[in-house]
Amino acid sequence: MRHSLLPSHNRRMFLAGGAAVAGLVMAPRMAAAQAQAHLGRVNGLIAQMTIEEKAGQLNLENDPFRWRPEGVNPGDTLDNNQANIAAMIRTGQVGALFNGVGAATTRLVQDMAIKESRLKIPLLFAADIVHGLRTTFPVPLGETASWDLDLAERTARAAAVEGGAAGVHQTYAPMVDIGRDQRWGRVVEGAGEDVLLGNLFAVARTRGFQGDDLTEWSSLLACPKHFAAYGAAESGMDYNTTDMSELELRSVYLPPFKAAFDAGALSVMSAFNDLNGVPASGNKWLLTDILRGEWGFTGFVVSDYTSEQELIAHGYAADGRDAARLALLGGVDMSMKSGLYLKHIPELVQSGAVPVSRVDEAVRRVLMTKAALGLFETPYRGSDVRTERRVTGSREHLALAREAGRKSIVMLKNEGDLLPLTKAGKRYALIGPFGADTVDLFGPWSIFKDPKLAVSLEDGIRAQLGDGSSLSVVKGCDVEANIEGGVEAAREAASLADVVILAIGESQEMSAESKSRTEITIPDAQLKLAQAAAAVGKPVVVLLRNGRGMELSGPVADAQAILVTWFLGSETGNSVADILFGDHAPTGRLPVSFPYKSGQSPFYYAHKATGRPSRPEDREFTAKFRGVPHLALYPFGHGLGYGEVQYSPVRLSSPTMAWNGEIAASVTLTNPGAREASEVVQLYIRDRAASITQPVRLLKGFRRVAVPAGGSIEVSIPLTFAEVQFMGGDYQMHAEPGLFDVWLAPSAQAGEPVQFTLTR
Ligand code: BGC
Repeated sequence: MRHSLLPSHNRRMFLAGGAAVAGLVMAPRMAAAQAQAHLGRVNGLIAQMTIEEKAGQLNLENDPFRWRPEGVNPGDTLDNNQANIAAMIRTGQVGALFNGVGAATTRLVQDMAIKESRLKIPLLFAADIVHGLRTTFPVPLGETASWDLDLAERTARAAAVEGGAAGVHQTYAPMVDIGRDQRWGRVVEGAGEDVLLGNLFAVARTRGFQGDDLTEWSSLLACPKHFAAYGAAESGMDYNTTDMSELELRSVYLPPFKAAFDAGALSVMSAFNDLNGVPASGNKWLLTDILRGEWGFTGFVVSDYTSEQELIAHGYAADGRDAARLALLGGVDMSMKSGLYLKHIPELVQSGAVPVSRVDEAVRRVLMTKAALGLFETPYRGSDVRTERRVTGSREHLALAREAGRKSIVMLKNEGDLLPLTKAGKRYALIGPFGADTVDLFGPWSIFKDPKLAVSLEDGIRAQLGDGSSLSVVKGCDVEANIEGGVEAAREAASLADVVILAIGESQEMSAESKSRTEITIPDAQLKLAQAAAAVGKPVVVLLRNGRGMELSGPVADAQAILVTWFLGSETGNSVADILFGDHAPTGRLPVSFPYKSGQSPFYYAHKATGRPSRPEDREFTAKFRGVPHLALYPFGHGLGYGEVQYSPVRLSSPTMAWNGEIAASVTLTNPGAREASEVVQLYIRDRAASITQPVRLLKGFRRVAVPAGGSIEVSIPLTFAEVQFMGGDYQMHAEPGLFDVWLAPSAQAGEPVQFTLTR
């Protein structure tokens, strides 16, 4: 399959690297049309609602009932907080709850709304189901390394099945923020640095969560977040200000949102950040003019956790009343956690500060989405204890987690073909804080995980070791601290082993919301451990645990083999062992660059050339840092398999592309090895002279192919007129005649380009 375009069901002029705005229709999969049928009922309800009840529908509270898996059951005594929220539900002051799970409790709490409140409007249950519920799949960044859209759709589907059975209706996912600064802790939640991958994964995940029919209990309403440009926080510091040109916003940061909406996503979360002087959660231009006016989005906007209240801290709103007013008028329909809508809407309407029509509009959007989910007909939807038990952590889901884990692993290097390791007759030393770990393998946003479903690296490796092999496991140090005698123990284990396996990297506490880092390095304690283990002189395999592109140095960079293993979720150990011992070959490709040094951040492959482009051999007065090439150590798109695939020079079907035309780029891949190879052929272009300067390379498509052992295959990827267009100063897509470079290459830093001319 070729991935320069959206999957076939809505393949319409999807402009890969550009704005992705032209000509898309609302996906037919959504039940929005059916929901229109509910308009009469919804308007009828609105006509009956008091202003307090309207404010209540727009009020989203943290779920106090279901934090514990066992939840609250009939007959349980409620604590104060639970009793308070229960009273609010019964009096119509809550429209939705977030972040609790459990079928039994859902029914109980839903009953408070549909049996005891005046208008009997069902509650919406939302949750951060980001990469699985009980079964935990790889973190989204890791899964993106699979470059496998079908996989992403299947894991999102499985997560939705578990979530739906646990009574959840909406997931705060996919996170579609482009992540170009690896210091930013939340890169881990998205699809990395590239716009095309970002668009494609936004679509795949939205489709996976929402399924074919939003009224199905196993469909979760998708909520792409964080709208918008949250990933561009200055210096990568979480929550920080974003200031960028409209062109950059529209050509890099907005497209994945648009792609998710075009795939049917019916809700969206407004971001925390200030965007060009107007915080996103009060930004009318963004939340109304673009979202509604230009894109015709019909779902509802929910604020991020108290983000409308934070308009005060931003220095945008004077007080809580002002914050509620600005958020509401800006386009935030539902208020998460702050309670400001509930508190201020009645007075804001009474005083004329906010027209009641705006409140009605927000309520209508929320109720119409509830209708689209089928909540008025089936308010309990999937909440069923038996189904929940059956689907949660099922064998099928665990097998999928293992497959997803495997496909997410990226092999950065493999000197002397150290990998795969042999199962029999060898002694291995597994050294590092993550060897036996069963906590940090899940990754951030795994609040609903089943901790019992953790396969550690040690467990996975032991399960595959054959006759005569042995494994010693030494922690050596904590993630960020030495432990007494740790280095000595590691040295001894290394000296008794044939191969050292270093399980090092970041904890999930280092790569998540509010976990930005000034340096994207392996912590010192672990570097010291790695140094000591490597000094023994045995071959070293690094199993890197990470939630971002990292700076690798010293003993880590020098290891013979490096596998990037992210946070792979429940089946971590099994997935890693599948690759380590060669039952499967590594097939992942980096969705983010690994720069040489932290100080290069933000480093991304699709940067502009500057007037002083640097080449590795350049010394001074070119665009680079002292002593560091303006390149990645391991570039975007890079990833090795077991065996080497050779690329022929690229051939073009024609040296010219006609206006509105298309050409094809082809390459011959040869696999001299004895094992079939899986290769991701990546098509990049560069527009050599344009009225808006273009990146030095931009991904326009890719194809995964199997290259037979000892054989060759031809791979041809078309390049269309739409794909050579770029966004102009008028925010429309344009083509300009002239010279283009084209690469078919195994990474954003590999290969030699050929040229064609676009003629008019
Ligand atoms: C995060 C969101 C999340 C929300 C609800 C916020 O802190 O930024 O991504 O969905 O909390 O948990």
